[in-house]
Amino acid sequence: MLTARIAVVVSGGGTNLQALIDAQARGELKSGQIALVIADKAGIGAIARAEKAGIDRKVIVRKEEGFEEKVLAALAEHRIDMAVLAGFLGILSADFIARFPGPILNIHPALIPSFCGKGFYGLRVHRAALDCGVKVTGATVHYVNEVPDGGRILLQKAVDVLPGDTPETLQRRVMEEAEWILLPQAAEIVCAQIVREKESNE
Ligand code: GRF
Repeated sequence: MLTARIAVVVSGGGTNLQALIDAQARGELKSGQIALVIADKAGIGAIARAEKAGIDRKVIVRKEEGFEEKVLAALAEHRIDMAVLAGFLGILSADFIARFPGPILNIHPALIPSFCGKGFYGLRVHRAALDCGVKVTGATVHYVNEVPDGGRILLQKAVDVLPGDTPETLQRRVMEEAEWILLPQAAEIVCAQIVREKESNE
């Protein structure tokens, strides 16, 4: 059966990557396969997760010259159809977005348009939500464009803020109850669209 080839771009522990790996193992990624993991620095937990799952992986250091060129080359070399930014801390340029032919998804740990954009990542997002006193937060999967967290929203899931929450407890709940559920669902939706397009072009 035709499947879309997925690349996952990571910068950290890789729990969202693991959610994709586990979904694939459960047969929930019917239209896609994780074909490549790109880590933007060495020694991060996400690399070990990819290795354990037997997924091709490359370290392309974001701080080094020519990062985007190298990523584009790796995506082409691995015949990637779509990319997922999973805990990726970089901002891709408009040029990169224009040159990669497929869709790019990102998971953001808040309900966009709240607590998003430049400087809102990791625990900072949850600290801002707690400082604001919101009673509900959540996660968003959106298409990536050149505006940080600015692309069209694909899926969202709400998560309650509980009395006594810290940024750490809230982050964990948002990951468990929203991010790790939404990202595989979103990947399957987009991969299914890609497969339909491939089949109609045959
Ligand atoms: C977490 O803050 C998550 O909410 C966001 O990126 C960070 C690390 O994710 N998406 P991961 O564990 O590396 O997937």
